[in-house]
Amino acid sequence: MTSNNDLHARRQQAIPRGVTNSLAVYAERAANAELWDVEGRRYIDFASGISVLNTGHVHPKVRAAIAHQLEKLTHTCFQVTPYESYVALAEALNALAPGKGPKKTIFLTTGAEAVENALKIARFHTRRSAVIAFAGGFHGRTLACISLTGKVQPYKAGFVPMPYHGVTVEHSLEALEQLFKADVDPARVAAIIIEPVLGEGGFYPAPPELLRRLRSVCDAHGIVLIADEIQSGFGRTGRMFAIEHSGVEPDLITIAKSVAGGVPLSAVTGKAEMMDAPGPGGLGGTFAGSPLACAAGLAVLEVMREEQLLTRAQEIGRFMSSRLKGLAVRFPCIGEVRALGAMVALELVKNGRPDSPDAELTRALVQAAGRQGLIILSCGIYANVIRFLAPLTIPDALLKEGFHLFELALEETAGVGVKVKAAG
Ligand SMILES: Cc1ncc(COP(=O)(O)O)c(C=O)c1O
Repeated sequence: MTSNNDLHARRQQAIPRGVTNSLAVYAERAANAELWDVEGRRYIDFASGISVLNTGHVHPKVRAAIAHQLEKLTHTCFQVTPYESYVALAEALNALAPGKGPKKTIFLTTGAEAVENALKIARFHTRRSAVIAFAGGFHGRTLACISLTGKVQPYKAGFVPMPYHGVTVEHSLEALEQLFKADVDPARVAAIIIEPVLGEGGFYPAPPELLRRLRSVCDAHGIVLIADEIQSGFGRTGRMFAIEHSGVEPDLITIAKSVAGGVPLSAVTGKAEMMDAPGPGGLGGTFAGSPLACAAGLAVLEVMREEQLLTRAQEIGRFMSSRLKGLAVRFPCIGEVRALGAMVALELVKNGRPDSPDAELTRALVQAAGRQGLIILSCGIYANVIRFLAPLTIPDALLKEGFHLFELALEETAGVGVKVKAAG
């Protein structure tokens, strides 16, 4: 039998260190919220392959749709010989996107590619070049996306509000104002891109007030507002798109991860007149919106409707946050619990202080959870946030069992906890 250790040794020889793993657990098979490794050990999955499996591992309906499509055709390239599923999924996303006006959708393959295309569409539409992103945001690993994420051009508008770290809506807006005064004339700005809930940055929901004020800034200066919903979208927060909680209509939305239940697919959905800005041949990709991915995407939407996953996301979020808040009373290392629907996180600090992030404990907790048989992920600009991304299809029994495993891991790494945490 292959072991995790054998595979890990082979992997270190064959694969560059830039691709990291938090656990040396090699997956063999999975079903809904459970996964088995190559040694036959079972895990509960609270990571969902980084928010890709809102409909769970290998959902029977998604599998059947892929299998059915596999019998018919796997690839033509939509630009060469188009097919109905691409059109039907675009129609469905256009109808689901917030706002009343006509929408259009282009399909791509990865999240980063969706972000790159959204920027390109915004630039064609405005005939401007500058792009503004927020510090702490994450938009992907391709070169354009890295520069949005890193500290170089395009322009950075300070941090999104993080109340736990004292960053308010006013701070974020002042930083944007300052950027307009000192660095870039708003008349040169093509787009402002924001995650309605910061994903890799630590699961901070953008306050509705910030999104409304950004909408006004964009309207005043003719700037395209892009909502990056790659991690927060597709039902994760209890709405199809997280920005719906604010009532703000973005111009473009980037979509990926859970859109096709594990088959690589991403999309940009947006106002039709903007989406049409690039001319014929200006958009596309060989594998973009493949027949298998579009078939999976249509099945995912059906599952979401039939199993009422938006409501389920809210239930999961309520369960997780109330149980985590209970743990926060016992464990002083839990600085804050945050949740928007089932996008749930806790922030780990030393001595109960927001300015003392505990990245070491966070790393240890991910490992301890793995030993208990639970897969969780960390995130956060200080690497001190545990995020919970259980499939929205998880049954209650597994949700409770997974939470219990988390509690055991926390007891192992942070001690058994005190009754009431010290003030401050
Ligand atoms: C908000 C956000 N945007 C973009 C990306 C990039 O997506 P991908 O890794 O599919 O390129 C991610 C990935 O985590 C993300 O969370």
